[in-house]
Amino acid sequence: MEKIQPVKGTHDFYGLNAEKMRFVTDVFTSVSELYGYEEMVVPVLEHTELFSRGTGESTDIVRKEMYTFDDKGGRSLSLRPEFTASVVRSILSNKLYATQDLPLKYYYSGPLFRYERPQLGRYREFHQFGVEAIGEDSPLLDSEVILTLVQSLNYLGFKDLVVKINCLGDKESRDNYRKALKAYFEPHLSEMCEDCHARFEINPLRILDCKVPEDQAIVKGAPHLKDYLTEKSQERFKKTLQYLDDNGIKYIIDDNLVRGLDYYSEIVFEVSMSGDLSKYGALAGGGHYASLVSDLGGPDMGGVGFACGLERVVSVLDELHLLDDIQETSDFYLIPVGEIDDRETLLLATLLRSEGYQVNYSYKTQKVGAAFKKAVRKNAKFAVIYGEDELARGVVKVKNLRTEEQVEVSLTPEEDFFATLEKMMEEEHEHEHHHNN
Ligand code: HAM
Repeated sequence: MEKIQPVKGTHDFYGLNAEKMRFVTDVFTSVSELYGYEEMVVPVLEHTELFSRGTGESTDIVRKEMYTFDDKGGRSLSLRPEFTASVVRSILSNKLYATQDLPLKYYYSGPLFRYERPQLGRYREFHQFGVEAIGEDSPLLDSEVILTLVQSLNYLGFKDLVVKINCLGDKESRDNYRKALKAYFEPHLSEMCEDCHARFEINPLRILDCKVPEDQAIVKGAPHLKDYLTEKSQERFKKTLQYLDDNGIKYIIDDNLVRGLDYYSEIVFEVSMSGDLSKYGALAGGGHYASLVSDLGGPDMGGVGFACGLERVVSVLDELHLLDDIQETSDFYLIPVGEIDDRETLLLATLLRSEGYQVNYSYKTQKVGAAFKKAVRKNAKFAVIYGEDELARGVVKVKNLRTEEQVEVSLTPEEDFFATLEKMMEEEHEHEHHHNN
């Protein structure tokens, strides 16, 4: 029979790769908890309108990349292409904003779907970890979001991070700038691509993102946003940068950074690697959004957040050998010798597992030599060996597979058996610890 292929641009994660994804997510989770974020889990499916209104009608994501379909009840649904709109929707659906304890601070992780051309670092199903802080407008919070991101990446071992920052300004700044852009692009429009015509109508800022070479030449001469920022926005931007300086975050101010989503205002940022590792694209991006909550029918409150691409983070960490310590290990591998009843083996496994040890053994009879080889392949720390003679005397042999040292340990009393194992395990951990440092 013909094999069923995986969907293009999707990936299976298993074994070590699954462990690496989980490890990275765990680091982001712990750091976000240091900053006072709580977890939010939102559905993969939403009404399409959430993304067209929230993420933005003029974005490539909504125009070209969404997995949209009608369900059996005729509703237009989409697989989420990003989290921010969903988090805001949840805050509105559950009236979480009706509290004195603003800002609301949530972190999230999970799969997202964008119909993009699959290539290095770009998939159709990918995973993000991110945070959103909603309901308090403060440059302190803006800078903290960047600190959360950079501290997480630093914990993971990243060093040469390139943090790019730009200020898109408040509504007034952007209205003025949009007018200036329209005035500039209008006489050039006939020479520009189809997409840019649409962008011109919906959001001329998007034209700055155009990848068509002829259009890029025109974009070069366009007016600069920084010349249209209101004093208030400039002041706020200055403060954010000051906080980042105070906390030792190195960044580059990049006038060209506009980001591919419509909801941004004030600060936006992106983090990538320098040199060859920049080939994976941005590791993370984010920014402030002033009107997303009200655009989705909620009160007038702003928010700020980031999202980090987990596949990209794992790929870069792998290239830098920063995940080499992640190995599939286990504590014990059981090796019955001679005619031992299976029941004895399962009982011993249950005993060790009830004490919290990871245990493997073979489900069919195997030769002792083959069993030792399998124990080593399973990265077991110890082999537990027992024959009829040992079981009759109420003992097992425990062999350290690294040092090859073997000792006989009495199974009774149970406390002593466990205490002996714990001591052996601790010595092994200490060795590992020394070895890794
Ligand atoms: P974004 O820039 O679209 O922002 O995505 C954030 C990160 O997700 C990217 O920097 C990249 O690492 C990863 N990513 C995006 N698309 C793909 C893909 N096709 N394959 C692999 N990785 C990808 C957002 O999604 C905003 N919601 C971020 C945000 C949160 N802004 C405010 N709060």
